Amino acid sequence: MKILLVGSGGREHALALGLKADKKCSELHVAPGNPGIAEIATTHPLVITDNQAILSLAQSLGVDLVVIGPELPLVNGAADILRAAGIATFGPSKAAAALEGSKDFAKGVMRDAGVPTARSFTCTTESEINIALDTFGAPYVVKDDGLAGGKGVVVTEDRATALTHALSCNRVVIEEFLDGPEISLFGISDGRNILAMEPAQDFKRAHDNNQGPNTGGMGAYSPLPWAPDDIIEQTYEKVLAPVVAEMAARGTPFIGLLYAGLALTKNGIKVIEFNARFGDPETQVLIPRLLTPLADLLYKAATNSLDDTVLHWSDTSAVTVVLAAQGYPQSPVVGEKITAPDPQESTLIFHAGTQEKDGSLISSGGRVMSVTGIGNDLESARHRAYKQISTIGLEGSFYRSDIALVASLAQVEN
Ligand code: AMP
Ligand code: GLY
Repeated sequence: MKILLVGSGGREHALALGLKADKKCSELHVAPGNPGIAEIATTHPLVITDNQAILSLAQSLGVDLVVIGPELPLVNGAADILRAAGIATFGPSKAAAALEGSKDFAKGVMRDAGVPTARSFTCTTESEINIALDTFGAPYVVKDDGLAGGKGVVVTEDRATALTHALSCNRVVIEEFLDGPEISLFGISDGRNILAMEPAQDFKRAHDNNQGPNTGGMGAYSPLPWAPDDIIEQTYEKVLAPVVAEMAARGTPFIGLLYAGLALTKNGIKVIEFNARFGDPETQVLIPRLLTPLADLLYKAATNSLDDTVLHWSDTSAVTVVLAAQGYPQSPVVGEKITAPDPQESTLIFHAGTQEKDGSLISSGGRVMSVTGIGNDLESARHRAYKQISTIGLEGSFYRSDIALVASLAQVEN
């Protein structure tokens, strides 16, 4: 099977590794990719917002499957164009990707499907905004309806800050605050069936103890020893299966990766958000633990044939730590030289914001690399990840030191 993977981040590097490891994958192409991905796949230049360019590349390579990593091409309808040309595609249509592209749309689907989520109002005027803010009170949760590159959500005790953010959005979803730990649980869907993956936890704030600004994600780990034993079944029954059924009933089946961001509240699980693609950096801990061959799995999802598939997982734990550039997320410094030795045993290095220039590796984005450690428990996985990341040289870079720390201490105590 010849495969084209679209994207260039740590998530795509992890997916590329998984696809490549499946013996059914005879050729792996990634566009645009990055220097780390180029070591294991053939990379091609690509502007990912250019749907015609994606189609032309897939056609000229004669691929059997296209896997779309990031949300932008999905929300732009790249999957529709590929499918219309008869190319099997893992990634939802434009209509189905609206689960990520519009918070209001996602709320409507959840309402119709009976999926537990925060109560909310969608507002377009200042008076509607004021009513919504006062109905729920502090902490205020204010969400830009559309894609906002991770900057759309403001959670604040300060009403004036909440109002300012709400007024800066065209359309805004204001909702009740959900209290409880957050987890990410992904489902792989062929439009009718959905297979729930193991849960992971992401660390969104830039600094230790969840301080500092929101980021795209500074680290992740899986599994979650502290989560309820039936978290996968619960999420499947209450969230993933109803959403897939609802999308199919609307005539816009969801084919691809449904990312459920959940809060485990005292009243049960509630959906915080959906994404229409693999999460980053959660993918960097999930793919190394997934035993089910990935190319065959994503091909089956893309061709409506997941009926008899089950997911198998290794008993290992995985912890990933993101190396961020100085100034991330506000104004990352780029163009600095990176020195990265080969990974040690049970350790993987994933590239994201890296570039090759005159034979050297340089930084080209905020999240530069991520390092995944794998071990028998979280403590050994953490140890490996941190030992490896400390060997990477990049002026001014930083990483959190507490990824999976609390969960690993609790695991040792039990
Ligand atoms: P998002 O950009 O949608 O990933 O949201 C960013 C973060 O805002 C989430 O990871 C949560 O920590 C927080 N958040 C979003 N919605 C809520 C909510 N209803 N209650 C509490 N926190 C929330
Ligand atoms: N890990 C958060 C995201 O992928 O959106």
